[in-house]
Amino acid sequence: MTDAISDCLAAHPRANLIQVPTIIHKLPRLSSRLGREIYVLRDDLTGFGLGGNKTRKVDFLLGDALAKRATTVATMKATSFSRNAAAGAAASGLDLHVVLPGSESDQNPLSQSVFNKWGARLHFEANGTEALADHLDSLVASLRSKGEVVYVLHPGGSDAVGALSYVRVLDDLCAFSARTGVHFSHVMHSTSSAGTQAGLVVGQCIADYDTRVVGVSASRSASDQSKLVRELAQSTAKLLDRPIDLSRVIVDDGFVGPGYAKASREGEMAAQTFAELEGILLDPVYTGKAAAALIDYIENDRLGEGPICFIHTGGNAGVYY
Ligand SMILES: Cc1ncc(COP(=O)(O)O)c(C=O)c1O
Repeated sequence: MTDAISDCLAAHPRANLIQVPTIIHKLPRLSSRLGREIYVLRDDLTGFGLGGNKTRKVDFLLGDALAKRATTVATMKATSFSRNAAAGAAASGLDLHVVLPGSESDQNPLSQSVFNKWGARLHFEANGTEALADHLDSLVASLRSKGEVVYVLHPGGSDAVGALSYVRVLDDLCAFSARTGVHFSHVMHSTSSAGTQAGLVVGQCIADYDTRVVGVSASRSASDQSKLVRELAQSTAKLLDRPIDLSRVIVDDGFVGPGYAKASREGEMAAQTFAELEGILLDPVYTGKAAAALIDYIENDRLGEGPICFIHTGGNAGVYY
C-alpha cells in the first residue's frame, strides 16, 4: 500500500470479508470499438456476498463494529447494502436486524430469500418509508435494553467509515499504475448514496493521484449529488485527519434518464455493448447508466487524453431482482 494511504487507514480495521485488491483489466474490444484505452476495476468480483461496492463498505463497517465489540448490527431498507450486510454479519458471527417498509408479502421474494439464507431478522413497518427511521430507533433501544451492543449501519453504508473502503481503492489504482505504467486520466463510476465517490476523492487527495473522478448520478441533480458527496468527503477526511480538495468532486446528472431505479434507453444500450463486446453484465439502474456516460464522453471527445478506469460497482443481482 502507498505509505500515505496505509498510514491513515491503519487505525481502521476491516472485517476481512472481501478479496482485495480486485482485478483491474483492459476492455480490449470496447477499447478498440471506441478508439480509447478503457480499463475496468472489477468491484463486481469482491469475492463475498453478492459482490459490488457495498461489500467493500460492509468490510470496513463490520470491522469497526467488531472493534467496538458489537453483538448486533441493525439497518433499514431492502437494498443491496442490507443484503450484503446480512452476508457480512453471518460471516462475522453477528446478529443483523433489518427494518423494511410494508409487510412480508410486499417484499421481493428473491431479496427475501437472500435475507433468510443469511439469517437476517426482518422487521416490517406498515407505515412506509417515512416511519422506518423511528422504527429502527425503537428497535435499537429495545435491543440495547436487553444488553445487546448494537452498531447501527447507515442505509447504503455511506458514512465516513463506509467511505474509507473507497479511500483504499486509490491504493489499488496507485499500485496498478506503478506496476503497469498506465496512469488513469479519468475514473468513472455510478454515484448515489455518495460513499463510493467521497472515498475515491479523499483517497485521490491523500495519494496525490492526478485524475478526474467523475460520478455519474443515478438519481439526483448534479448540485444535490455534489453536495452529498462533498459533505461525506469532508467527514471522511476529518475522520482521517487529512485535508481535502472539494473542487475534485465532479458529478454528471445527464444520464439519470426517467429517474431513480428506472432503466434508460442509453443505459440499456451501454449494458448491451458491455455484454456483447466483453461478456460483462451491468445492471440498468447504476452501472448501465455510468457506462452510458463513459461511452458518450468518449464518442463526444469530452475526456481529453489518457486511459480511463471504469469502476464496475456491482449490482449484478439487479439484473434479476
Ligand atoms: C451497483 C451500484 N453501483 C453504484 C452505487 C452507488 O454507490 P454509492 O451509493 O456509494 O454512491 C450503488 C448504490 O446503491 C449500487 O448499488
